[in-house]
Amino acid sequence: MEQNRTALVTGGTGFIGSRLVEALVASGREVRCLVRATSNTAALEALGVECVVGDLRDAESLERACCGVVEVYHLAALLKAPWHPEFTAVTAEGCGRIAAACAAQETPPELVLVSSLAAAGPSLEGRDEERPAAPISRYGRAKLAGEEAARPYADRVPLTIIRPPLVFGEGDRSLLPVFRMAQRGVVIAPGKAPLSMIHVTDLVTCLIAAADRGERVGVGAKPARGVYFVADELPRQLGQLGTEIASALGSRPPRTIRLPLPALWAAAAASEAWGRLRGRPTLLNLDKVCEAGAPGWVCTAAKAREQLGFAPAPFGERLASTAAWYQAEGLL
Ligand SMILES: NC(=O)c1ccc[n+]([C@@H]2O[C@H](COP(=O)([O-])OP(=O)(O)OC[C@H]3O[C@@H](n4cnc5c(N)ncnc54)[C@H](OP(=O)(O)O)[C@@H]3O)[C@@H](O)[C@H]2O)c1
Repeated sequence: MEQNRTALVTGGTGFIGSRLVEALVASGREVRCLVRATSNTAALEALGVECVVGDLRDAESLERACCGVVEVYHLAALLKAPWHPEFTAVTAEGCGRIAAACAAQETPPELVLVSSLAAAGPSLEGRDEERPAAPISRYGRAKLAGEEAARPYADRVPLTIIRPPLVFGEGDRSLLPVFRMAQRGVVIAPGKAPLSMIHVTDLVTCLIAAADRGERVGVGAKPARGVYFVADELPRQLGQLGTEIASALGSRPPRTIRLPLPALWAAAAASEAWGRLRGRPTLLNLDKVCEAGAPGWVCTAAKAREQLGFAPAPFGERLASTAAWYQAEGLL
């Protein structure tokens, strides 16, 4: 590892970003994080990480944060609040701003942009990178717009785009309700759509591999160039996932009860209204129900396996470590 290899992480206080920061520090890199004035930076400071205060809406702060770094991992986004007035400015336009800040450096750093399977759109049989994107949710369209906003800088900035599916693992709360239902013996599932998933540790390994040796997006090249899906090999329906979680917890296999989509719409409408009232994102919102109605969210990680050496740990082990973390936190 070369000396003084500084990496910038945006979203370093978030679920995936905080695990990425830990891995980068463990790899011997110097790490800098773009944080907001309101961010809780205690965990980052404990790791000796440099925090630069800024915002994805503020181009000048991004240029400052990018100064002198050799790689940038862009994760910051507003995930659960597509109704938020700043949603597009942060989630979509923020990608263009960070790419512009990289391009403005004398030696532009490698930029790894964390997009989403939602940007590509649903698929039952398994999407690969060659298939044209067709997002169906506001979140997906914003993530695709973010990719498009960064692409014009690819003539100067070595850019790689990673599109993870549902990410789970230690530190996440989004999948906690499914773990709880599995433990209690009943999983309520809105449908039978198979879902690709990835554990956060496997994703983080892949992000670092992408910065080190990923294919780069090319201006005027095929849209698939420099883009990777990363996921465990087997997609799972929510009911199947509940059975595997129960097995990791040593509980009996749960029953699956189908939740009619209209009931989910009603619950999401109430949850979103509550979120808007409090000005806070909620796990369940109307945009998520749009996604839940799709026949499947499946992608194939063949390209990442071949080019990035992507080799996730056995899924059962990943569920077990996640369950152990929930238990240690008193959440299960
Ligand atoms: N979680 C998943 O299942 C999943 C799946 C596919 C793709 N992704 C993508 O992975 C990335 C990270 O997801 P996550 O689950 O780790 O998200 P998260 O836990 O919600 O973290 C979001 C991060 O973005 C930061 N942020 C929000 N608005 C900002 C702004 N205006 N300026 C600067 N920073 C801002 C937050 O900082 P504060 O601490 O200040 O709030 C936080 O660090 C996102 O790009 C997401 O789209 C996630």
